[in-house]
Amino acid sequence: MIAIEQARLEPRSLRLPLLIRLEPAGSRVEISNDTLGYSTKCSFTYGILMTLSRQDYRTLIRTQRNQLTQEEQKRSAESLATHFLTLPEIKQAQDIALYLPADGEIDTSIIIDQLRHLNKNIYLPVIHPFSSGHLLFLRYDLTTAMVHNRYHIPEPKLEKDKIIPVAQLDIICTPLVAFDKHGHRLGMGGGYYDRTLEPWFHYQSGPKPIGLAHACQEVEQLPVEAWDVPLPKIITAKQIWDWE
Ligand SMILES: Nc1ncnc2c1ncn2[C@@H]1O[C@H](COP(=O)(O)OP(=O)(O)O)[C@@H](O)[C@H]1O
Ligand SMILES: [Mg+2]
Repeated sequence: MIAIEQARLEPRSLRLPLLIRLEPAGSRVEISNDTLGYSTKCSFTYGILMTLSRQDYRTLIRTQRNQLTQEEQKRSAESLATHFLTLPEIKQAQDIALYLPADGEIDTSIIIDQLRHLNKNIYLPVIHPFSSGHLLFLRYDLTTAMVHNRYHIPEPKLEKDKIIPVAQLDIICTPLVAFDKHGHRLGMGGGYYDRTLEPWFHYQSGPKPIGLAHACQEVEQLPVEAWDVPLPKIITAKQIWDWE
């Protein structure tokens, strides 16, 4: 195990590698990737190569994301909005699920404002009150009453007539913790979007998912589980990734 809490990640554009080289007990551990300035004090035996676990990636990338400055966050959100609003599927869509950012996630407020001006219907995820691990999607507008969920994320107050069945959405924009070059997505560990997107994964039916992320959330290759739903498209401030 790496002493993750001591992690210092530099530069901000790093790509996390799969392997780390462990040096003599008590000395520094360095990740074996030329682009990376990650180091921490650890006590391991020389020569062992370790694969980062899903939890390691979550901790590392969340640390990285939370180190973005307000200015970087702002610029990232502006560029993201520009890319996002040029997508043909967004121009065609009427019912679009977004999310409100938490934990350093890329800000969606510019996108939400602009979609409002385009008279699109916007929805936000709400944690299902009874069905564990599932999301509901509720209409979100300027009058929506908000509450904080168990993760302290604001969500629309649950009102039955504001719920849209998932199948009626056109697009679901998902937050994510990390993604890789194949479109694999790692979330916070609740599996909420994997459950929501299961029909799309197996039958290509229902709303198309689009991941939204900072460029620094890209990693070389994520460890993937059978239930993880890969994304057909991910938008960052720098790039539109398309695997369709
Ligand atoms: N479609 C699904 N049906 C049932 N359980 C699921 C499904 N997708 C994910 N899970 C469960 O949710 C948990 C978290 O999934 P994980 O992929 O680690 O989270 P995240 O996608 O948020 O990173 C896992 O224990 C997994 O078994
Ligand atoms: Mg998953």
